[in-house]
Amino acid sequence: MNATQGIEMVREELESHWLPFTDNKSFKDDPRLFVKGDGVYLWNQHGDRLLDGCSGLFTSAAGHCRPEITEAVAKQLQELDYTPSFLRSHPRSFELANKLTAILPEPITKVFFCNSGSESVDTAIKMALQYHACRGEGHRNIFVSRHRAYHGVNIGGTSLSGLIKNRQGFNGTMPGVFHMRATWDPDQIFSKGQPLNRGPELADDLLTAIQTYGGNNIAACFIEPIAGSTGCLVPPVGYLERLREICDENGILLVLDEVITGFGRTGGAFSADTLGVTGDIMTMAKALTNGAQPMGAVGVKEEIYQTIVEAHPRDVVELAHGYTYSAHPAACAAGIATLEIYEKENLFQRAADLSEYFLDAIFSLQNLGAVTDIRGYGMLAGIDIATEDFPGKKGNLLQKRLFDAGLHIKTTGDAALISPPLVVEKEQIDDMCEILKQELSRL
Ligand SMILES: Cc1ncc(COP(=O)(O)O)c(C=O)c1O
Repeated sequence: MNATQGIEMVREELESHWLPFTDNKSFKDDPRLFVKGDGVYLWNQHGDRLLDGCSGLFTSAAGHCRPEITEAVAKQLQELDYTPSFLRSHPRSFELANKLTAILPEPITKVFFCNSGSESVDTAIKMALQYHACRGEGHRNIFVSRHRAYHGVNIGGTSLSGLIKNRQGFNGTMPGVFHMRATWDPDQIFSKGQPLNRGPELADDLLTAIQTYGGNNIAACFIEPIAGSTGCLVPPVGYLERLREICDENGILLVLDEVITGFGRTGGAFSADTLGVTGDIMTMAKALTNGAQPMGAVGVKEEIYQTIVEAHPRDVVELAHGYTYSAHPAACAAGIATLEIYEKENLFQRAADLSEYFLDAIFSLQNLGAVTDIRGYGMLAGIDIATEDFPGKKGNLLQKRLFDAGLHIKTTGDAALISPPLVVEKEQIDDMCEILKQELSRL
């Protein structure tokens, strides 16, 4: 197959696959497929080259098809293709956990592996419940999250999520979830970096949850340090600090969902390094393996692990939870190779150094008619466009037109998300912005 020469697929070949988060009817009429990736570029089925403005789906931070990762995965599959992770494991799982804890914020000392961000969130929910139960506080079963949050699509994560579209039509969600307000505020419009206003005041929404349910009944507060999928909502100054303070005062676990913000996206390994607040539990996925293998992980503080493990006698399984593919050898090999690239190429620092240029370039689009707001932090930015007829109509049109013009990005409703691979060059950022300018101008 020579991908760059084009591959044609006829309609019948597209019928069996039900695509996720996709308008299947129109997709199958006019499919947008990728057939090849290399660095910051992807190729579609017609052989056209596109810039990847979203690192795949916030996954491919080191660029596509890195030979170091491909070779590590191939070698692993030849040596040992699978091992159960219940009562068994393999050396690479420990190697990856050690590499990961070396870059995780200090209080996080243990890592549990799963296969996606959604699984990491539901794992964290169960860990929080188990931790409190082991301390004799099994009554703590209320969870707090936010409007416009995205915590994946399993039932726990769907319940925590605050995106209307993702909740509509699913009535059987987990009870006992309190949603705080999202941090977006009209006063912050076109704020680059952390907005200055109302941080502690918005965080005090957690006090409302405490007043409603009692602080000693709340298990955990789940927060994306920067709300990613909803369009890059950067926390105002003082917001995360105040949440941390209220959690500590009330014995509530703070869970930071770093599925998007982890591995350099904010200009440091994790948001703790840039935004300055550490969770008791951290969820991760996506760039953990550079997207080359499905993998998620949950990092926990030593005390949480010890409490759960010590509450059980020897020879008894302590956490009755895990997946057939937890710590899959190929995913571990990909994770190790990925973390080595991040370290060798100093990519987290590169992201920090490039951030100003990237954000300035994106904010240069703010005077275009269709643009109603822009936000950004590190190497992540969101552009809101004016809604027309119904939410998402213009956003969907924009992502299609951008694709056809040579730029892949993600849209959520009428927000466009830009998060290029951390290996992107300044000229490639300029090229991305040129395409964005052209397509935003004709919306
Ligand atoms: C913050 C956050 N949590 C969880 C998820 C779910 O991850 P996955 O799609 O790997 O299940 C996502 C996906 O975008 C996310 O952004």
